[in-house]
Amino acid sequence: MILQTRRLPGSAFDRIASSGHDYVVGPPSGMTRQELLSRVPGASAIISTLADTIDGEVMDAAGGGLKVIANYAVGFNNIDVEEATRRGIVVCNTPDVLTDATADMAFAMVMAAARFIPQAHEFTKKGLFTGWDPELFLGQPVWGKTMGIVGMGKIGTAVARRAKGFGMTILYHNRKPVPAELEAELEARLVPLDVLLRESDFVVLLTPLTEETRGMIGERELSLMKGSACLVNISRGPVVVEDALVRALKEKKIFAAALDVYEREPEIHPGLFELDNAVLLPHIGSATAEAREKMAHLTVENVLSVLDGREPPASVNYREVFSSKSS
Ligand code: DGY
Repeated sequence: MILQTRRLPGSAFDRIASSGHDYVVGPPSGMTRQELLSRVPGASAIISTLADTIDGEVMDAAGGGLKVIANYAVGFNNIDVEEATRRGIVVCNTPDVLTDATADMAFAMVMAAARFIPQAHEFTKKGLFTGWDPELFLGQPVWGKTMGIVGMGKIGTAVARRAKGFGMTILYHNRKPVPAELEAELEARLVPLDVLLRESDFVVLLTPLTEETRGMIGERELSLMKGSACLVNISRGPVVVEDALVRALKEKKIFAAALDVYEREPEIHPGLFELDNAVLLPHIGSATAEAREKMAHLTVENVLSVLDGREPPASVNYREVFSSKSS
């Protein structure tokens, strides 16, 4: 049985319905933990989203026949990959197909934070525009400024390419340097996090959530940023300590922030609602119909490949699972 925790867009899911496997789909808003635990027994595949915690308890409840967990997302911090690997369960995700959609949104967030675009829109819609005002919504320039990218994977690279079009200088912080040709193409410089925070006008967070990156941007890090700088988080909420961010924004220690993700998502720190320098989005980084369709195709291909005994196109632990099986 293939268990999909919620209804998902994308015509590709019709392939599962006609694949001969039993196919159980959760409600449009997703399954509660209890629903997940009660529906999962007997599943050979789970199609999950970032809202589902897939840990040892869920794997136990599924029983010994669980072969694949396919996340409909590129991030997979909601899945206990180590535990899955230990049990020989393949974990899959959806890289590449959402890179450009997410990078477009990251850049839109840079512009929105720098120039108060959502706030100005709200102001205008409320009928508050009474005439040109030289002091209205004075923002920060983007052209020719310095962008610091934390997490220079595929999306980080795609954001850097967009930033190059704006004549920006690129700094990045990553576990390892990107290939030399890419560094040369982007004229990007690998720097320690503190240097990136001190020198950047825009700090864009694109790092996966791991034990290393949880709470990576807290009070100390925010205090290193320029007073004119903007922070953009389109990775995972817990990378930023929201209490510290609210204080920094309130006290104008940094200029603005744009957030697509939250520390305790979908809960949002109430302090963020009170700020005039925070742009808040409902986790829509990859939300284009085109990206969703491609995510659906990749997810279905991931699931059916594993169930048919083939290597899936996008797995985070396939090699480890099969090397531990053959050793
Ligand atoms: C992801 O893919 O990880 C996004 O957060 C949702 O598309």
